[in-house]
Amino acid sequence: MLRFLSTKGGVAPVDFETAVLQGYAADGGLFVPEAIPRVAPEKLQQWSGLNFEDLAFEILSLFIDRSIISADELKLLLHNSFKTFEHPQVVPVVPLGIRRGLHVMELFHGPTLSFKDMAMGFLVNCVDFFLQKKDSQVSLLVATTGDTGPAAAHASAGKQTIDCWVLYPRGMISEEQERQMTTLEAPNVHAVRVNGCPNGGDDLDLVITQMFADEGLKKRLQLSSVNSINWCRVMVQTVHYFFGYFRVVDTVGERIVFSVPSGAFGNLFGGYLARMMGLPVETFVCANNDNATLHRVFSSGKFTKKDLKQTVSSAIDIVIPYNFWRYLYFASGCDHNKIRQWMSDFQDHGGVQLDPHTAGEVKKGFTSASINDEQTISTMATVYKNYGGYLLDPHAAVAVAAVGKLSSEFSPDTKVVCLATAHPAKFPVAIRKALALDGPLPEGAKHKSIEAAKDLFQRCRSYDCTQLTHALHHAMESVAKMRTM
Ligand SMILES: Cc1ncc(COP(=O)(O)O)c(C=O)c1O
Repeated sequence: MLRFLSTKGGVAPVDFETAVLQGYAADGGLFVPEAIPRVAPEKLQQWSGLNFEDLAFEILSLFIDRSIISADELKLLLHNSFKTFEHPQVVPVVPLGIRRGLHVMELFHGPTLSFKDMAMGFLVNCVDFFLQKKDSQVSLLVATTGDTGPAAAHASAGKQTIDCWVLYPRGMISEEQERQMTTLEAPNVHAVRVNGCPNGGDDLDLVITQMFADEGLKKRLQLSSVNSINWCRVMVQTVHYFFGYFRVVDTVGERIVFSVPSGAFGNLFGGYLARMMGLPVETFVCANNDNATLHRVFSSGKFTKKDLKQTVSSAIDIVIPYNFWRYLYFASGCDHNKIRQWMSDFQDHGGVQLDPHTAGEVKKGFTSASINDEQTISTMATVYKNYGGYLLDPHAAVAVAAVGKLSSEFSPDTKVVCLATAHPAKFPVAIRKALALDGPLPEGAKHKSIEAAKDLFQRCRSYDCTQLTHALHHAMESVAKMRTM
């Protein structure tokens, strides 16, 4: 049975169910598999014609032991997770004439219109599946820069086994994203608006990390996390890389490039894992906005955080990319001691300088760019005007702009897939800016669910960031108490 270790090496290996339900490892590390399953080229060839659900079944079967989830159960969990997607292919991949061989992989056809739906539905369905078997319940605690919260809230809505708490920094997400959390009519979903977060979602992550470090509280509230520290999220996020690859290559074996708008490095880690498993990827472009922690580490080997800047691609306004620890774990040759030391240095001094060997390893097969708001907006405008009115959301635009900036690094024959991580309807302010619009939005910048939410009553708790830990304990304890009455 494939087991999961902590990147810090301080806990005994656990099975898939435990890794999913715990979220964080008890030593504060992140779960990683003890061995990476390899996919032979012949297998890739066999998989190349599969539909999304069947491909996901094959890939996840390499990580999840049948004694934990049987084949029939896995098929049903996957079906229930992807049947809510609007597009028959789940993830359509469309050519974009801006460069020969450039494609956009649309990851936003799920229920909350962002790529977070790709893995969240399956993760929450797994949590529910495990808890129903144990006749147990959890409180899921989620911090969001705008898209994880809606995806978690939507996936959890109405589930008897789950209370879902979604925390978001006031004024730092779009109104549309906020409404996706506050208008859900589900008594088990609790939206929490947090006032005064100078570091945006990172401030919320800090509170969550502290709550998870309190073993007593964790037990009392049956705390668990579905942020992308949860192993299940990054594992499911491998699937769209395989699927996208098969849609664009002429022959299986051809090496391609993926460009990924990146914040916490969860999506990109999924790609990296896919490559470790055998997917022929030449280069990953790590596309940052002005919050360029990842671009700095790829270009200089310095892993340091700086103050948060608010940008038009707000979902990637992140200065601590916590999934990067998973990457560093593998890049350092699975060295638990280094990870423990670096995590502690990062916490104490706000950064670490990687040793030359790891810094060299980190760059292998990765390149990066930092794209400012002006470049993001002008990319959205150019694509709309010159390529048939195609609308990129600001995050997809960061990925496309990064390819433009780095295009001399790839051969003109190399196929490039840019990941479109959100539907443009979630970001009307940026769309208006790009298209210089005062009047109505084009149809492609609207979505029926976003329009419907405009008329609904909003419900949320509102706390100051300085009081958050205390206020949240209190609220969560009273909800948990009411459940047992
Ligand atoms: C629209 C969008 N694009 C990109 C990202 C970045 O993904 P990750 O944090 O996994 O790097 C996020 C979330 O953080 C997002 O919501």
